[in-house]
Amino acid sequence: MHFTLRQLTVFEAVARHLSYTRAAGELHLSQPAVSMQIRQLEAQLEVPLFEQVGKKIFLTEAGREVFHYARSIHQQIDDLEQAINHLKGLRQGRLSISVASTANYFVPALLGVFHKRWPDVEISLNVTNRVTLLQQMQLNETDLVIMGQPPADMDLEAQVFMENPLVLVAHPDYPLAGQRAIPLQQIENETILVREKGSGTRDALNRFFDQHGLEHHSSMEIGSNEAIKQSVEAGLGLGFLSLYTLEMELKLNRLVVLDVAGFPIMRHWYVMYRRGKRLSGSAEAFWHFLVDEARELVSSPYAST
Ligand code: PGA
Repeated sequence: MHFTLRQLTVFEAVARHLSYTRAAGELHLSQPAVSMQIRQLEAQLEVPLFEQVGKKIFLTEAGREVFHYARSIHQQIDDLEQAINHLKGLRQGRLSISVASTANYFVPALLGVFHKRWPDVEISLNVTNRVTLLQQMQLNETDLVIMGQPPADMDLEAQVFMENPLVLVAHPDYPLAGQRAIPLQQIENETILVREKGSGTRDALNRFFDQHGLEHHSSMEIGSNEAIKQSVEAGLGLGFLSLYTLEMELKLNRLVVLDVAGFPIMRHWYVMYRRGKRLSGSAEAFWHFLVDEARELVSSPYAST
């Protein structure tokens, strides 16, 4: 049998409408051209596919069989097209991701691996604080966002992919530096250097203090992880930071993690987007890459403690 996909497509339209005229209209063909395709298909299959009763046409039994297969073949072709577009999107696509400033300590390493795997995906990385990330998702300005706990009042698809331990750090000469199991109450009276409003790290500390009925007697607001580390090194107080930001300083013994009861405060890293957004092939690939591989690829933040 040598029928063509074109003949099946024409047949499927006629069978759906049970009308040559309407099928011709849908396919932008003349009615004789449609009749010709159907006649050729019938000749190839050696069975009639339609029968005419009065002015109406009906499918024959063979016609119903062919209709069933024609529809599933078209469905398969749609799937095939989608699969190819997905792959093309991966090869040539763009990936725009926005991350909380603390995530910037491990995301570039992950992007490096992803880029080796998909070298033609054009990547744009935006680093900002939590409040701006939420706005960007609301305005559909980014494909994926990486930050801590997603807000409950936004309709998001979100998945956790790594832990984010938050710790108190001090200069190695600080009186509390060598102590074991420092009671929480002792921390209340220390000056703690915290991030700017809108930072997820800062929110986590506030929640922790509230949960334990503690008060901040003295805190100092410092607008970035890097500035907090330098200020702690300069003796301004204790720093409250993600362990991910501290690899270098801990290795070089410029800072030490304090052993405080209840610490580290455990947060988690999430990847997310606004529900309803259609992810590109490259965004979907990056999502799976994070969820499946990030834990193994990023070196453990505990390694340097
Ligand atoms: P950051 O951290 O906003 O304090 O940089 C991200 C988060 O924990 O949500």
